[in-house]
Amino acid sequence: MCGICGVVGHRPATPIVFEGLRRLEYRGYDSAGIATLDDGRIERRRAAGKLDNLAAVLEDQPLYGTTGIGHTRWATHGAPTVNNAHPHSTSRVAIVHNGIIENFETLRKELEAAGEVFETETDSETIARLADFHLAAGKSPREAAFATLRRLEGAYAIAMIFAGHEGLMIGARRGAPLAVGFGDGEMFLGSDSLALAPLTRRIAYLDDGDRVIITPEKAEFFDHTGKPVERTIQTTAAIAGSVGKDGYRHFMEKELHEHPLVIGQTLQRMVDPATRKVILPDMPFDLATIPRGVITACGSAYFAGMIGRYWLEEIARLPIDIDVASELRYRNPPLTPGSLGMLISQSGETADTLAALRALRGIGLPVLSVLNVEHSTMARESDVVLGTVAGPEISVASTKAFTAQLTVLACLTIAIARAKGTLDEQGEDELVAALLDLPTRAEQVFAHQDAIRNMARIVAEARDVLYLGRGSAFPVAMEGALKLKEISYIHAEAYAAGEMKHGPISLIDRTVPIVASIPSGPLFEKTLSNLQEAKARGGRLLAFTDEAGADRLSAVAEQTIALPKVHPFVTPIIQTIGVQILAYETALLKGTDVDQPRNLAKSVTVE
Ligand code: G6P
Repeated sequence: MCGICGVVGHRPATPIVFEGLRRLEYRGYDSAGIATLDDGRIERRRAAGKLDNLAAVLEDQPLYGTTGIGHTRWATHGAPTVNNAHPHSTSRVAIVHNGIIENFETLRKELEAAGEVFETETDSETIARLADFHLAAGKSPREAAFATLRRLEGAYAIAMIFAGHEGLMIGARRGAPLAVGFGDGEMFLGSDSLALAPLTRRIAYLDDGDRVIITPEKAEFFDHTGKPVERTIQTTAAIAGSVGKDGYRHFMEKELHEHPLVIGQTLQRMVDPATRKVILPDMPFDLATIPRGVITACGSAYFAGMIGRYWLEEIARLPIDIDVASELRYRNPPLTPGSLGMLISQSGETADTLAALRALRGIGLPVLSVLNVEHSTMARESDVVLGTVAGPEISVASTKAFTAQLTVLACLTIAIARAKGTLDEQGEDELVAALLDLPTRAEQVFAHQDAIRNMARIVAEARDVLYLGRGSAFPVAMEGALKLKEISYIHAEAYAAGEMKHGPISLIDRTVPIVASIPSGPLFEKTLSNLQEAKARGGRLLAFTDEAGADRLSAVAEQTIALPKVHPFVTPIIQTIGVQILAYETALLKGTDVDQPRNLAKSVTVE
């Protein structure tokens, strides 16, 4: 959420910063801007809307200099206008900021009383004005920056440059990520290593509260008290080449097609090929004796957690509490001592999930995190990380990361069940075989893309859509409804199929299609009865089932997609791919911005 990029070096800064912003655009696209030092003077260009608008401005009015910072914004305080776009600057300093300065009103009043004149509605401008105030009083850039940081409350990742100080940039982070990239005679700052991937693979991550002073030759790190500290330089994986669309129309389409690959890659990491047993890293707790699990996450990751709950309770007999992180963090629930906290996040940076992590660890629970970005803040703060091997996910709406999360949760379920003795060897063999079968089966889902496109024609006409599912198909319905809302802007609600008669049934008429996830298995008949009830009231039924359920359903549903028949354990993974494709095809028909839907952003680092 909000992307930051900066460079101090010897090459023109603007193209480097702009390319970094391109790779960060998933974090927000309300406005964008770059500031550089041109002969020591601060110059900046800004534009409302996407980066292409900034590119047009830069073409008209190029920006020179070898020291520069840039920002792509997801608006919090202040409308997404040019005037509110970052960088915020005075004649002495320019800053970019990701996060929320919670005490900005107090600071603003103080600074206005001291003669600083504000130009925007943003909280972020306070940082520039406060630094300006200190610089005007004769402080050095470092003194001014540190004095400014001491006054800030809230969350931030910040980069600052200073008039008359070419080759100097100061960065800081608290609650929002920031990475330093080490180049050859040039240094970079970025919100993540993806932004810096084409520039360098040598990255150091700031710890929470850290500040950094960078010049073309070196980076000096300081902790929140201002004490010099060392931060390790890590070599990141080579991902620079893998973030194109590879011939697909959208990142989302490409990432949908990567489902089989990422499930396979994740399984390779978690299942020993020789013994076909699930292998987990060493755990600082005993899986056999944990009394309960607490799962928390946001967005799609939360739905992955809901599916995990069905598995962990049924197969491993582990009682699970689950809540969205934004609620859990403030609920102060009475948790059983020794419970295992389980977090799920693609980015590893989502503010609410991170806060929930800290709350759980704060009361002494061990935390296991299922993460895609392995150098993320959550990764650094967790007791155990189980990595999803989904690669960079660029589309704002999550797809492949979701099935990779499910793959990890399925393996974790097997490992806990084995440790607790609720799964015998034969049972484990059966479930592992079901998982290993998944990449092939996931690939087969795409044979149904034309049929799903036909279904999308009905959905695209609707103003409201109801999604239904029972058991582990219920969270699949929730994921399907969320995906549809996010990218096609059609209102969708998901209900547990059995709950339909307690309310949503009153919505049903010909204009409200019902999308059901109804795989064959023990709950098939129950869900089918619910669908019959909807049909009897004129509902148009669109069903995702499998080859074993197709005959029964085609007599009831207007359209039926018979996805590959798999072991009931892994059906939610296959069903999810179906409902995600439906959302994508619907969005195509609606002509929306699939990869960057309005108002949304990825890596949500604000509350
Ligand atoms: C945003 C994204 C969702 C994602 C959620 C949680 O809302 O648009 O696709 O599921 O954040 O993100 P995380 O990185 O924690 O999985």
